[in-house]
Amino acid sequence: MAIKIAVVNEFINDETRVAVVPEIAQKIASNNVSFVIEKNAGAASGFLDSDYPENACKFVKSSSDALNDADVIFKVNPPTSDDISSMKRGAIAISYMNPFQNDALIKSMASSGIDAFSVELIPRISRAQSMDALSSQASIAGYKAVILAANHANKFFPMLTTAAGTVRPAQTLIIGAGVAGLQAIATAKRLGSRVIAFDVRGSTKEQIESLGAQFLDTGITAEGEGGYARELTTEELDTQKKALSKAIGQSDIVITTAAVPGKPAPKLIDKKTVESMAPGSVIIDLGAISGGNCELTVPDNVLDHGGVMILGPTNLPSTMPKHASELYSRNLLNFLSPALTEEGLNIDWDDEIFKGANITRNGEVVFDHGS
Ligand code: NAI
Repeated sequence: MAIKIAVVNEFINDETRVAVVPEIAQKIASNNVSFVIEKNAGAASGFLDSDYPENACKFVKSSSDALNDADVIFKVNPPTSDDISSMKRGAIAISYMNPFQNDALIKSMASSGIDAFSVELIPRISRAQSMDALSSQASIAGYKAVILAANHANKFFPMLTTAAGTVRPAQTLIIGAGVAGLQAIATAKRLGSRVIAFDVRGSTKEQIESLGAQFLDTGITAEGEGGYARELTTEELDTQKKALSKAIGQSDIVITTAAVPGKPAPKLIDKKTVESMAPGSVIIDLGAISGGNCELTVPDNVLDHGGVMILGPTNLPSTMPKHASELYSRNLLNFLSPALTEEGLNIDWDDEIFKGANITRNGEVVFDHGS
């Protein structure tokens, strides 16, 4: 049976990414897989309609025209209520779903008979690495956070010896050494900064040091389930904040990426600590998307607090949409590929990857966020 995959234009929060790039459309397209794409869906990422394979892609003028007959919907952002009302019962929707904060959306997809998969819930197992959208996009965020910091800093990152004298390297502190944090460490090192980093997962010490950065030991460890950190207790958080505040005050750049899935970002930097930083210092708070690691952060704003610049970008991958879309659409292709058969769509509902990412099925909500 032929499989139709829909792709739409996404305009929420300055979104510039597209869920399928031409290269991936070409790869999946076959006798029984074709695309219905809303006109200009890839334009903001640098992909023109004419770049997509003509024989496998039909362009339509509205998102509802793309969605209403599709068997599979590939999106970056969660479906909107208009999207859901345009989808047919039994359609498969795959995208970011923000599942811990989106009960109403999830219920609405279930009652509309949409079988939905959340890319955030794809298990972090070796077999699923090529499908891991959290990693591909976090890596972009980590890289771009350092570039943003360099752009706002009043200093060079590297040590320089010039005829006018020697410039000492800037000091960058990275808090949270997951995917974004490790990429930020590597990028800040490449720019020549002195880098110190910290995470509550003990296993990150070796990773931080292997990138040439110094591990900051606060005495707090908090390994949780599935390779993630657990939420700290109030006492642990206090101890950690105290241990970090000295290093923050001595740093020119602080990049925070600390997160615990499904929970608000831990508040690690208070007003007093910001005020201990030298004017001209920069904080890039990637925790802004879930409330901020710094208590002064205003999401998607640049704040000047006594000369310390505090930025809380929530969608850095969208500032590099070409590569972000290429990587994301490869993640989606790798996720769905096992289900694309000559006979049509055949999802193995017992497979731990499909099962782990599935949030609605046959009219029921099957996601339990455990709180
Ligand atoms: P994340 O975005 O949920 O969190 C970012 C970082 O914040 C994590 O490293 C976490 O330990 C840290 N953190 C949480 N609370 C903190 C606190 N109070 N202070 C300082 N740091 C804090 O995590 P991300 O980047 O999505 O991945 C986390 C881990 O998942 C990876 O490092 C790895 O162990 C695992 N992973 C496994 C993969 C695989 O095997 N396929 C692929 C990607 C990640």
